[in-house]
Amino acid sequence: MRVGGPARYFFVAKNIKEIREALSFAKDKKLPVFILGGGSNIVISDQGFNGLVLKPDIRGLDITEDSNGHLVSLGAGEQWDVCVQKIVSKNIFSIENLSAIPGTVGAAPVQNIGAYGVELKEFIDSVEVIDTHSFEEKKISPDECLFSYRDSVFKHLEGKHLLITNVVLRISKKRKAKLDYKDILEYIKEHPLDSGTLTPQDVRNIIIKIRARKLPDMKTVGTVGSFFKNPIISKEKFNALSHIYRGLPGYVVSNDKVKVPLGWIIEHVCKKKGYKKNNVGVHDKQALVLVNYGEGTAKNIKECANELRDDIKRHTGILVEFEISFIGEF
Ligand code: EPU
Repeated sequence: MRVGGPARYFFVAKNIKEIREALSFAKDKKLPVFILGGGSNIVISDQGFNGLVLKPDIRGLDITEDSNGHLVSLGAGEQWDVCVQKIVSKNIFSIENLSAIPGTVGAAPVQNIGAYGVELKEFIDSVEVIDTHSFEEKKISPDECLFSYRDSVFKHLEGKHLLITNVVLRISKKRKAKLDYKDILEYIKEHPLDSGTLTPQDVRNIIIKIRARKLPDMKTVGTVGSFFKNPIISKEKFNALSHIYRGLPGYVVSNDKVKVPLGWIIEHVCKKKGYKKNNVGVHDKQALVLVNYGEGTAKNIKECANELRDDIKRHTGILVEFEISFIGEF
């Protein structure tokens, strides 16, 4: 989102040696370090960040093939969507549902990015990191990443100090197009396709069109995409809520847990779709997305998000979590 004050120091590191240099600089000066990816899922304080912002800009995209499938090695500084396009252009079914997600490769495992029924964790072979305390290089296995919905070890105390330098994906030859998400099924109903000749590029084109209908264009509008996580609640709670709010959608995630689309709650329960205050507000085509209409400050955004969070709590009893991160003092 286009708000926020400056950083005290800003380093772009092209390789591991430069990352180590930047980290020792911060250590000598006793500065906190913030690792920046593409900046598309953070809101920076109006006061900025009083420390060192380090942007790893390690490049590289290498695809190798064996009898089981493909191994794809991606430098953390690559743009995620450029990598998706390159894999798609090799006619490999894999991450095409994760098309048009802004940000860098290095940020993708932190969030375990997900969209249209696919999550990055399904493809991770390993994540290469530098420990920002010991400066050592390590390889983290998928199990050690502790992936879950929009979450990983890299967001928590055990892994926050790990700076991602490279991500390796394993793609099985058995992988096929995944078309069972509601929006994709609706699109195919409107625009029938020949499943026999369907390519990864066709699926990518569909995803890009669906996203463009609902999400604001990040090039022209200040936004961080979905602002909150979709809450996961007990079946009992879901049944009680759907009794009050008829039509509340729910997706069963385990025996006794249901994920509910918060966009629906913000629109139909809180009636806040299209809501505007102090130059920021709720996107009129997707209520989970907050938008800065121009002059809004980080403080205005935080206030709007808190107001929504309180509204949701009052109506449903659900305390929602932010999907994005706030950086600096608020
Ligand atoms: N809905 C409404 N009103 C709204 C928005 C949504 O009623 O204003 C309801 C509809 O019933 C819709 C359902 O919510 O069918 C789900 O909406 P949508 O498919 O747009 O997905 P979402 O749950 O709001 C999640 C991700 C998105 C991802 C989409 C598609 C989270 C927090 N968000 O959104 O990810 O693109 O699914 O897979 O999980 C992002 O993380 O920035 C992001 C855009």
